[in-house]
Amino acid sequence: MAGTDVFTEIVDGEQVYKYYADGEWKKSASGKSVSIVNPTTREPQYKVQELACVIRFHCGSIFFIVFLCLVDWVFGTACTQEEVNKVMEASKAAQKLWARTPLWKRAEHLHKAAAILKEHKAPIAECLVKEIAKPAKDAVTEVVRSGDLVSYTAEEGVRILGEGKLLVSDSFPGNERSKYCLSSKVPLGVVLAIPPFNYPVNLAVSKIAPALIAGNSLVLKPPTQGAVAALHMIQCFHLAGFPKGLISCVTGKGSEIGDFLTMHPGVNCISFTGGDTGIAISKKAGMIPLQMELGGKDACIVLEDADLDLVASNIVKGGYSYSGQRCTAVKVVLVMESVADAVVEKVKAKMAKLSVGSPEDDCDITPVVSESSANFIEGLVMDAKEKAATFCQEYRREGNLIWPLLLDHVRPDMRIAWEEPFGPVLPVIRISSVEEGIHHCNASNFGLQGCVFTRDINKAILISDAMETGTVQINSAPARGPDHFPFQGLKDSGIGSQGITNSINMMTKIKSTVINLPSPSYTMG
Ligand code: G3H
Repeated sequence: MAGTDVFTEIVDGEQVYKYYADGEWKKSASGKSVSIVNPTTREPQYKVQELACVIRFHCGSIFFIVFLCLVDWVFGTACTQEEVNKVMEASKAAQKLWARTPLWKRAEHLHKAAAILKEHKAPIAECLVKEIAKPAKDAVTEVVRSGDLVSYTAEEGVRILGEGKLLVSDSFPGNERSKYCLSSKVPLGVVLAIPPFNYPVNLAVSKIAPALIAGNSLVLKPPTQGAVAALHMIQCFHLAGFPKGLISCVTGKGSEIGDFLTMHPGVNCISFTGGDTGIAISKKAGMIPLQMELGGKDACIVLEDADLDLVASNIVKGGYSYSGQRCTAVKVVLVMESVADAVVEKVKAKMAKLSVGSPEDDCDITPVVSESSANFIEGLVMDAKEKAATFCQEYRREGNLIWPLLLDHVRPDMRIAWEEPFGPVLPVIRISSVEEGIHHCNASNFGLQGCVFTRDINKAILISDAMETGTVQINSAPARGPDHFPFQGLKDSGIGSQGITNSINMMTKIKSTVINLPSPSYTMG
């Protein structure tokens, strides 16, 4: 299906996509595959290798486990823990050489990968359309943005990793100028990257590129839904000629492969974007640096003096683009009562213009990623209905396709006031004071982003200071990009800060070399 010859080697004769290790496309000895269901047709679309790594003790008997191992051995379906171990070993060995590869050469490889990625934007975007129902134009944008991110990371890496620091000892009390400390940034080792389904290419390269420019090797575990797009992207890196073993991509269900990877002793850093699985990972991971982005309940606070047309267009863009399946989507509107009617009317008018349908037709609202997601969203809607929220449109669902819905007069006792639908459903809570809005925002377990709309910049800054979120946008909907901006969440929204510069720094540590000079008397006579 891949569309161009360069992708033929990544899939086998039975149309199962291979995994990537040691510079080659391989079939897993597990003999298992995972089906990827197209969210629009709800039919199986692709298959990827399943590296099943869990040894289950379900029979509670060592004899049964020995029996299973024998079956595996006889029938050639050996447990693929061994394959993952090999990936980690190759990754470690490749990293040692890569760390000694000149920085400018590492950057050159990344620039090449970026160009190849952009050149093949069409087949990769096609996968995004079929695997995650991303609207066609947004799918292309994701790939192009990814290429730009890789190039920018190469340039930024050359700048910031090319600099070190020199300290002299006599600035600290009691010391002579007898020591010079040279410090610079060195790689961590093997970085494990786990991106989410909603940006399987972009949020993969936002981890891959900083890891590589900093001299690390990289093991990618793509989301199941989005894995095929990610495998195409990896082929672009392969074609760019990176050394064997430096980049690997292992596929399989998180429930099968997740713990084995995240707790693997060969992993020196984890960069994860996704749901609350990240909290479990952070509890199990050893003493290694973590970068986590785990969702949000981004609040949009609207003051009385706001430009209400600007507010409405940002609520619609922020709340409904990619059907609300963005961690930075507007997820609750907190609007001053005096302007609430006007805001709701303007938002409704703009929502009426949203097209609803298939991603191939580039509709604004497309099916959500899975039936279970659609069921979860529906559960939030029904809870709001029972508790008498005002439905601004009729609730409508066909399969995984949910029509955009604005719920007015939502109160704090409704689940949708706090939970993240990750769908095209947006609650409006009317507030009687700004403090009430800030209080609601800060009472959330999440703290990713938020936004405030007002013409008074002083008020906006005070509100931004009071909101417990990693970023506050003034007069615009939340967003991660531009991709070199710092991006971080507080509380359950994450650990560490992302954005190109911060990710490069996070994937390095400081190494110091101290030059101890002879005492001054040696030279002064
Ligand atoms: O879904 C989480 C992403 O980090 C959001 O990125 O703001 O570019 O849509 P975005």
